[in-house]
Amino acid sequence: MKLNKLTSAIIASTALMFGAHSALAAEVEVLHYWTSGGEAKSVAELKKMLEAKGDKWKDFAVSGGGGENAMTVLKTRVVSGNAPTAAQIKGPSIQEWGAEGVLANVDDTATAGKWDSLLPPVVANVMKFQGHYVAAPVNVHRVNWMWVNPAVFKKAGVAVPKTWDEFDAAATKLEKAGFIAVAHGGQPWQDFTVFESIVLGVGGADFYSKSMVKLDQASLKSTTMEKAFETLRMVRKHVDKDFAGRDWNLATQMVINGKAGVQFMGDWAKGEFTAAHKKAGVDFLCLDAPGTADTFTFNIDSFVMFNQNSADAKKGQADLASAIMSPEFQEVFNLNKGSIPARLDVKMDKFDDCAKKSSFDFAATSKKGTLVPSIAHGMAVPSAVAGAMQDVVTQFFNSDMSAKDAVGKLAAVAKFQ
Ligand code: BGC
Repeated sequence: MKLNKLTSAIIASTALMFGAHSALAAEVEVLHYWTSGGEAKSVAELKKMLEAKGDKWKDFAVSGGGGENAMTVLKTRVVSGNAPTAAQIKGPSIQEWGAEGVLANVDDTATAGKWDSLLPPVVANVMKFQGHYVAAPVNVHRVNWMWVNPAVFKKAGVAVPKTWDEFDAAATKLEKAGFIAVAHGGQPWQDFTVFESIVLGVGGADFYSKSMVKLDQASLKSTTMEKAFETLRMVRKHVDKDFAGRDWNLATQMVINGKAGVQFMGDWAKGEFTAAHKKAGVDFLCLDAPGTADTFTFNIDSFVMFNQNSADAKKGQADLASAIMSPEFQEVFNLNKGSIPARLDVKMDKFDDCAKKSSFDFAATSKKGTLVPSIAHGMAVPSAVAGAMQDVVTQFFNSDMSAKDAVGKLAAVAKFQ
């Protein structure tokens, strides 16, 4: 009898424990496209932090650089009424999702965490739909970089080029010395990434803004834009024969292992150098893409929150949002990811020189008016327009289309609906 009493007491308290536990352990399903070595290390930090809050991470990774595949899968899930808790969505697309009425308001978490005072307005504005926070930012990536293997340049006896004109001659010398000059992956988003840095380098920040953000027809049809296409053709000449379809991180590996001289890519590429234990300034250099010093193309990764019904799911979502904005997460995540924290108050002591330069340039270019949103990474114009422009660039890259024709095609599709 005594034993029975004890047994039932144990059962009762166990049930209470499990009951209480299940009420707290929300399952948080997170859609993302971080599947390369450096990216996977970064997202693992978020999982760890969420689990420390007693929630369960349900991984929803869809591979494919730049996130196009992930966005297609996301649309199917949302349309079928089965949205994840959060998804990696950026820029103007946040507004597009907001207009569908499917996003959750996380103002309570944002107010408690003082997000308005911790985020620069250029970041905070992107995270809000009709004045309410619907997303949490994890970082600021810079896109207009040139990743350089200095040993390759040294072996070839070539100086690292600072302008696109110098680039052609330098690349030819690298090739003569037996190296691949440009590590590139022939995927539309990678072609567009290179192209936007060229537009910025050839035309400057004002021209970039007019053509790539405001879609000003005269700028799109200008001889400066023709020059940008001609420059892209020159760069195309310097990629290897196996470039088609190559993933961006494999292109980064070519620079890491000394097969290629440079890659034009955002600083998620640095995540690969870091994961390979390479040191900034020694094993690799992060330089401004030719002609783009004192400018900055920004790309902010963020997690958008979808409407949830249950109290559990809402709690998990709030936990995720506050974990993302915690200074601990912003530091450790960005050390791995290659980007800089979105919060302004995170100390940069532990970051390398590339991140310090990025952080400095982010503030400096913002003051100067040369901080511009990346079109190739969904920050500048609605996704449908960016997609159509990207298609023109990729067609040009893979054909003998003239720069004049390319400019005409680009201007024709570059229109706000
Ligand atoms: C994202 C990065 C990601 C990269 C490659 C970019 O658009 O902002 O977070 O690492 O694509 O997938």
